[in-house]
Amino acid sequence: MVAPLKLAVLVSGRGSNLAALIRAIADGRCHARIEGVVADRPSAPALELAREHGLPTDVVAAKQFNDRTAWDAALTDRVKQLAPDVVVLAGFMRLVGSAMLEQFAGRIINVHPALLPAFPGLDAPAQAVHARVCISGCTVHVVDAGVDTGPVLAQAAVPVLPSDDGAALHARIQQAEHALLPAVVHAIASGSLVLGPPPRFLGSFPQPLPSLVSPPVS
Ligand code: GRF
Repeated sequence: MVAPLKLAVLVSGRGSNLAALIRAIADGRCHARIEGVVADRPSAPALELAREHGLPTDVVAAKQFNDRTAWDAALTDRVKQLAPDVVVLAGFMRLVGSAMLEQFAGRIINVHPALLPAFPGLDAPAQAVHARVCISGCTVHVVDAGVDTGPVLAQAAVPVLPSDDGAALHARIQQAEHALLPAVVHAIASGSLVLGPPPRFLGSFPQPLPSLVSPPVS
């Protein structure tokens, strides 16, 4: 049995996705271990939830720092101390900076309440309602320097009902998130989903593939 995937979970808010991860790990549905929970604000209710479950917590609040670069460096330092295999942004409402992206390149994942690339950024469920789409959902993706632009790992769709406002749709999407995020973490933990550089492009058919993989010896 491989070792559990070590997670650092970054939060800003309620922490229902953190709760879903904790539940899935306890139930044996997600082969991971949460090494620590880090928030960008001391009042994040997710911190209390983490403490109730005996998880180490820390706060790296942006307003304690002169600028974004200093905050990003401090956050990176704190998360590095947890030595995670994967960093999970579970409702972390700030863009991570270049220090985080370099330190954990390709190993930061985020859950977003829309079917990306539709409705990136803030208030995605409200955006979906205003756009009058009939399907929305959630996405788990690898984080890059853009706003919700990184490679998509998995998605789950939910219907948008005519009576929905943003809050009602978000509640339905969150139910899907609570299944999707632990499932993706488990897929990484078990090796069925490999994070890392995108696969190399081998070439186009009808060229014979073996000659592309290993060039013919002359
Ligand atoms: C989730 O809907 C997630 O998609 C978004 O922020 C929300 C966090 O919710 N990025 P919670 O704090 O996990 O309850």
